[in-house]
Amino acid sequence: MKDNSKEILDGRKSIEDIDNENSLRPQLLSEYIGQDKIKENLNIFITASKQRSEPLEHVLFYGPPGLGKTTLSYIVANEMKVSIRCTSGPLIERAGDLAAILTNVEPGSVLFIDEIHRLPRIVEEVLYSAMEDYKLDIIIGKGPSAKTIRINLPKFTLIGATTRAGQLTSALRDRFGMTFRMDFYPPKDLAQIIKRSARILKADIKEDAILEIARRSRGTPRVANRLLKRVRDFGQVQNVKIITKVLVDSSLASLDIDDKGLDSLDRRVMTVIIKHYSGGPVGIESIAVAVGEEADTIEDVCEPFLIQLGFIIRTPQGRKATDEGYKHLNIERKGDSQGRLI
Ligand SMILES: Nc1ncnc2c1ncn2[C@@H]1O[C@H](COP(=O)(O)OP(=O)(O)OP(=O)(O)O)[C@@H](O)[C@H]1O
Ligand SMILES: [Mg+2]
Repeated sequence: MKDNSKEILDGRKSIEDIDNENSLRPQLLSEYIGQDKIKENLNIFITASKQRSEPLEHVLFYGPPGLGKTTLSYIVANEMKVSIRCTSGPLIERAGDLAAILTNVEPGSVLFIDEIHRLPRIVEEVLYSAMEDYKLDIIIGKGPSAKTIRINLPKFTLIGATTRAGQLTSALRDRFGMTFRMDFYPPKDLAQIIKRSARILKADIKEDAILEIARRSRGTPRVANRLLKRVRDFGQVQNVKIITKVLVDSSLASLDIDDKGLDSLDRRVMTVIIKHYSGGPVGIESIAVAVGEEADTIEDVCEPFLIQLGFIIRTPQGRKATDEGYKHLNIERKGDSQGRLI
């Protein structure tokens, strides 16, 4: 059977998201729902730096895909009333590429580097002095005749986004004035996001249907928006004008999304840990091979959510299924929670 729930619950972007996201993306801090602590802090820093007429300090956002890191970065530039230039770690291959970008930034503007953990090390090293003193030290030539030249840069704000803060060097992390960890959204915030998106998409939806989608969106706005669109498609084909909870339930069942929002890949991951490895511990690579997915997908998409639900835990030896995890899959644990036979 084709695994059609996979791409829906994968918090990462698909082609469909690209048009979708531009229309659904909030533009202002006041339209951005949830993550209140982050908004509060950003609001203070933005106001203060505007009062001083200085660029904002460098900001790092990290957390699982689809939680709103890119959205917030655009909002920051918008609220600061400055332009934003976007690039991504893997696109900046050489120090020269970075120099070309940095020497062209508008004074005071935002440079957004997505997937900043994938910047090559040599580029990262050049970035340090750019972030710290707005200077670039570039080495020209090779061997004994090599010379270092120093270029002064306009002041700018670097906003970095990553799903893997652990992969950043501490030297880079320390150069951000503010670091914000994005958390999964509680259902009540997702419900507001869905309500807003339904209004923009002109979809008629009942309150309990909103709550049901919110509950099963794995705490992720991108997933919530995607599920809303999918359910709307099911409704349209069935000639149902208003999205009801009954429609949500039947649509999500067709998409193989369970009561907690797990998709078939999540359940396969859980099953591998429990059935092939007696509950773990097992390394991510072994899980990836067993379910036939890339380790990065399991680590970025499935794992944070399964940990958040308390279905698996990370230990230095690998991932282990918890009693809750066994219960959700309706499998009886043989032995105690340490896997010892009793
Ligand atoms: N707080 C929010 N309020 C309303 N909508 C949101 C919010 N956060 C995210 N969204 C919606 O979710 C979509 C995905 O968010 P975004 O692209 O910013 O995620 P991301 O964290 O950058 O993901 P990735 O790690 O894949 O780059 C946005 O287009 C937006 O429509
Ligand atoms: Mg993004």
